[in-house]
Amino acid sequence: MEKEFLKIEKEALEAINLVADRASFNEVRNTYLSKKGVLSDLMSKMKTLSQEKRPLYGQLVNNLRSKINEALEVKNELLEAKELEEQLKKDKIDLTLPSMSKNSAGLNPFFVIKDEMEEIFISMGYEIADGPEIEEDHYNFELLNIPKDHPARDMQDSFYFSETMLLRTHTSPVQARVMQDKKGESIKIICPGKAYRRDNDDLTHSHQFAQVEGLVIDKNITLGNLKATLDLFVKKMFGEKRKTRFRASYFSFTEPSVEVDISCSECDGAGCLTCKGTGWIEILGAGMVNENVLRMNGYDPSIYQGFAFGIGIERVAMLRYGIDDIRRIYQNDIRFLEQFRAR
Ligand code: DAH
Repeated sequence: MEKEFLKIEKEALEAINLVADRASFNEVRNTYLSKKGVLSDLMSKMKTLSQEKRPLYGQLVNNLRSKINEALEVKNELLEAKELEEQLKKDKIDLTLPSMSKNSAGLNPFFVIKDEMEEIFISMGYEIADGPEIEEDHYNFELLNIPKDHPARDMQDSFYFSETMLLRTHTSPVQARVMQDKKGESIKIICPGKAYRRDNDDLTHSHQFAQVEGLVIDKNITLGNLKATLDLFVKKMFGEKRKTRFRASYFSFTEPSVEVDISCSECDGAGCLTCKGTGWIEILGAGMVNENVLRMNGYDPSIYQGFAFGIGIERVAMLRYGIDDIRRIYQNDIRFLEQFRAR
């Protein structure tokens, strides 16, 4: 009887040994272990045996079963390792393939231009200053030579929190703040930031907009410095071919005051719809810092002079990109923004 079992065991182990893939593994396992397999068959013969022989027989069947199970288990592990290896070979990734396009956003043209303006002035040696958007009347108006009841206040009606606190109507109050900070030292700053006015929004006006304020204070500063600076800014921002024109104007905090126009890029100065036939487009206000403003903020005008300017960021962006409506800059319409993705 034992011999018979040894023979079956040998055959089984040989068969398992020869297994080379999953299909033949399953086949061998079924041959021996399925309901109609060799071991069930052996087991069913038990009842034909005499009572005394049964325990030994049962033991032999169980022994055989665990030998076969063990061998199958070892084989299974080998097969799994082999299968994994094959899978890895098949799944090999090619790192040189171009990746799937990343879905990254572009910058709003407002920020493209703001960054560019900052870079231009930083390249000229300016530092960036900051000031609060909720501002005191004192800084927004008084220290800029716009006393209570001055008619210049009418053009800059704003949102008031109280008698004395308001949303700043321009970035110019930063001039006063920086002068008070730096008392007596020379100054060369720009301040990019938001400003607010109680405007009715239309193609070119928004109740919230942004400016880059500029202030230079030193000894021997003249209008020539102002002209050279703004001319260079215009050429860097709009191209070498753009000319600048300085027109006399009025701001309480500068004396003399100017408004600066650039030659129209659409018609090159000949006159067209964009420039309303004049050949020129206004882009900013500027001037020599008013002596009162210097004095009120701690500078002696017989020693120090300065110039200042305020440039609308949206205005520059609109001119650079031919944007027809200022509101497009704030609306986050993807059809508008996508046109700037590549820049
Ligand atoms: N603050 C002015 C405005 O918002 C712009 C301006 C004009 C700023 C002349 C200046 C300046 O610094 O010198 O209309």
